[in-house]
Amino acid sequence: MHRRILTPGVLAAASVLLAIPASAASGAPGAPGIGDPYYPAYGNGGYDVSHYDLRLQYQPATDELAGTATILARTTEDLSSFDLDFLLDVSEVRVNGATASFAASGEHELVVTPQKPLPKGTPVTVVVRYSGVPSTKSAYGFSTWHRTPDGAVAADEPESAWWWFPSNDHPLDKATYDVSVAVPDGTQAISGGTLQSTTSRLGWTRYNWRQNKPQATYLATLALGRFDVTTGTSEGGIPVVNAYSKDLGDDDGAARASVERTGEIVDWLSGYFGPYPFGSAGGYVPNTTTGFALETQTRVYYSPRQFAGGSNTSVVVHELAHQWYGDSVSLKGWKDIWLNEGFARYAQWLWSEHEGEGTARELADYVYASHPADDAFWTVKPGDPGADKQFDIAVYDRGALAVQALRDEIGDEAFFAVLKGWPQKYAYGNADIADFRAYAEQVSGKPLGALFDTWLFQPSKPAAPAALAKAAAPAQPRSWKKIAATNDLHVQER
Ligand code: TRP
Ligand code: ZN
Repeated sequence: MHRRILTPGVLAAASVLLAIPASAASGAPGAPGIGDPYYPAYGNGGYDVSHYDLRLQYQPATDELAGTATILARTTEDLSSFDLDFLLDVSEVRVNGATASFAASGEHELVVTPQKPLPKGTPVTVVVRYSGVPSTKSAYGFSTWHRTPDGAVAADEPESAWWWFPSNDHPLDKATYDVSVAVPDGTQAISGGTLQSTTSRLGWTRYNWRQNKPQATYLATLALGRFDVTTGTSEGGIPVVNAYSKDLGDDDGAARASVERTGEIVDWLSGYFGPYPFGSAGGYVPNTTTGFALETQTRVYYSPRQFAGGSNTSVVVHELAHQWYGDSVSLKGWKDIWLNEGFARYAQWLWSEHEGEGTARELADYVYASHPADDAFWTVKPGDPGADKQFDIAVYDRGALAVQALRDEIGDEAFFAVLKGWPQKYAYGNADIADFRAYAEQVSGKPLGALFDTWLFQPSKPAAPAALAKAAAPAQPRSWKKIAATNDLHVQER
């Protein structure tokens, strides 16, 4: 696509003047975006990352972050240059050991030009030495690096990597990670995966975290601050690591009463979704004033605000459901967000049923009935909501209604087989809504085009599902207040 077209005249001239060795590919610049229509500049073209090794140091007093990222990748085109998505200040770049030139470009691009073009299909090692104060950097007028009184947190969607490591920032390019961060003694560095080791010297403690399963860039997280860490193992054998800021005030008890149930909930979700896809689970609650929760891989981010009303296991269920629906099976493009949020919301409905707070059926009927046909809610298409409505409440609630509609259409046996089979079929990979429809059709043996079109792709309220039409007026589920409270999950604040 980016290869230059050589005219016969150019070719003739070249062959007369030079004997070009076959290996001296010329290449062209890699694209500055991976090709997602919702976010054209996100991710990059021309290469595929397999591993990020981040060796960093962080000073909470000044918010200074410094270190080296070593990126292992493979080219997918002949490249004369390529981009990384990054905002901090770069002092040196090496490509396959040799210094490379680099320049900032656009809102968040770092353009790297190696001394020699890179032929398609070859392994490449990129070393980026950098430093900066992430809280002072913004792109498109916002920052997603959240300062806390004792440190900072990187957790946001769809973008959070630019503020702390150079990357190919799109879920299509998943990779494994080693995240090693040195912080002053007494401060902790929390990230995803397994804590391989800690080392202490010269007043600094280094935390070495390893994520050994493919992870999307927005699911990499880093929290720096003073934390209490709890460890354990679920009954089903999954190691659990949770961390609580020492400074949660009034929310501390409710936060622990919720997040300490991670192991129980992971085991319970495994009954619906199949084996937990990762080697550890857990969450962390920093002393941030921003809201929300995020399904950061194996180590969920929870704002203390999620627990301001008391324990909230529903949000824990939501974020842990994403470990299967979103983290192990990632989106091909951001338009496929229903595959994440529709299923994570539906898991909350199943949990409500488990807790005796209203069945999935009752909650579906309640949501359906609570939005009249002229409610703007129905104008949002969960199957393609647009970037500005990507996390609209309708993606969650109408999205979960679509899951219930599928259940009604194919029956419980096929439905629960799909729910469990899907995370296996696309484990550690990427899929889109068309893949899901094809899989559900294959498992159920039913054509589902009309159903998907009605519930995911029409900007209008679908006719009442048959099951609902038959039912008497739905009773108001006892959990409606809690569901409303977890609705604020989708609101993005910067
Ligand atoms: N995916 C998150 C959830 O459903 C919600 C979310 C969207 C979010 N954008 C965010 C959370 C930005 C934190 C920051 O749980
Ligand atoms: Zn979610």
